[in-house]
Amino acid sequence: MERSHATAFAPGRVNLIGEHTDYNEGLALPFAIDAGVTVRAHATGGPWIEALAVDLDERDSFLLGEEAPSPGGWRDFVRGVSAELAAAGLPVAGALLEIRGSVPRGAGLSSSAALEVALCLALLALSDADVVPPWPLARICSRVENEWVGAQTGLLDQLASLCGRADAALRIDFHSGVITPVVLELGEWRLVTLDSGGRHRNAESGYNERRSECAQACAALGIASLRELQPAMLDALPAPLDARARHVFEENARVDAAVDALARGDLAELGALLERSHASLRDLYAVSTPAVEAAVEQLRAAGAVGARVIGGGFGGHVLGLLPPGVAVPAGALEVRPGPGARVLDG
Ligand code: GLA
Repeated sequence: MERSHATAFAPGRVNLIGEHTDYNEGLALPFAIDAGVTVRAHATGGPWIEALAVDLDERDSFLLGEEAPSPGGWRDFVRGVSAELAAAGLPVAGALLEIRGSVPRGAGLSSSAALEVALCLALLALSDADVVPPWPLARICSRVENEWVGAQTGLLDQLASLCGRADAALRIDFHSGVITPVVLELGEWRLVTLDSGGRHRNAESGYNERRSECAQACAALGIASLRELQPAMLDALPAPLDARARHVFEENARVDAAVDALARGDLAELGALLERSHASLRDLYAVSTPAVEAAVEQLRAAGAVGARVIGGGFGGHVLGLLPPGVAVPAGALEVRPGPGARVLDG
């Protein structure tokens, strides 16, 4: 039974640590934030979707079953979600969609995943469909990224948005599929993000190249994923594949070191881990830029004990950990874990 309307909200995310590990069957420790995307869906009764991006004052419309890639931008997400939900055998009814966002676009805080997840939840709720569990729903969203937007991204952002918990980060094991909440007790410490000013589209940055380098490393070593990598194998890899693989191996270890540090309440150690993660992303994984370095430096100069690039890199926001008594620097925003994606009405 179709409903007359449904509203869904999906948050963006900050990844505490564990970057470029998701598509390598590794570990990550993200949390959902308060900012995100809201989609209000009204049933139209007809076999078409009409979408309004309220913040941009732009529209799109298409017939269900006749979605085609647009020249780019937000429309591909709407068309892709509609097509991929149907391809997965899920119901999609004609709808008028109003889309509003409070998370900066293309800035490393997962505006894309928030949009995909909110669209999926609103459309599924409008059709009164059964709840789709996080992993399959995240895979549908990632097909939108991969096939419609051209970004070969993993499942980190969608899972963080779907599974977010107030007061907790999520240790996600992309090999076993196990997601474990990790309570984020910061006391007087604060996490802040600062916009480097550099914008990226994962489809156009070096993101896809990094993913392909990891696949090449696996092929050269005869392993299914970098999760199987042993340090002794690194010598067999040519540059820069050895550096990429080393980053992934060490970053996985840093995720569990961060979980341990949080359990002990050792936030200085968490800061040191953020620093090591950033150095590795800059020097081994090569996803930093001068704008990112300047933003990291700005947070350190303001008193952060750890700062690093987050998300795919090549621009976007940086994350910093401020010890007690250090004021949030100008332009930076405090972030804390918030609840995951949800249907807001009916
Ligand atoms: C982007 C992608 C994620 C993940 C991160 C890097 O946010 O969407 O899948 O790979 O980059 O950790």
